[in-house]
Amino acid sequence: MRVLVLNGPNLGRLGTREPEVYGYATHADLVELCEATGRELGLEVTVRQTDHEGEMLGWLHEAAGLGAPVVLNAAAWTHYSIAVRDAAAQLTAPLVEVHISNVHKREPFRHTSYLSDIATGVIVGLGVQGYALALRWIADNAARDA
Ligand code: DQA
Repeated sequence: MRVLVLNGPNLGRLGTREPEVYGYATHADLVELCEATGRELGLEVTVRQTDHEGEMLGWLHEAAGLGAPVVLNAAAWTHYSIAVRDAAAQLTAPLVEVHISNVHKREPFRHTSYLSDIATGVIVGLGVQGYALALRWIADNAARDA
């Protein structure tokens, strides 16, 4: 089963970006973790990152067309983008919203998500391991429908 792992703005700078908040794993480490987890679980995992909202919308449209599950860290767009929400709402397979940091322990503006109420589930605050957990859940629960 094909699964898209989609990362939004500033996540390409993982490892150097506020490591006390996001940890020291780089985006390349994150890609490796997701690909290795995918191999273990028999999933065909594609990981992408963009700082451009239109590009993210295109990837969500692609996932909707494929009927593929998505692991989405929309980063800052989570908190204000109706366009990302509207694109994510078109998905027909499970959507897992992931945040590396525990957004609920942070500034109040991060407590609002335009995605959580349309997501199948949400994983926050477990670092980059949250992505691996999301893929495990998809392998166990979404593979049957693919
Ligand atoms: C984030 C949390 C967001 O509030 C923030 O804008 C990010 C990363 C996380 O993974 O913890 O860029 O989505």
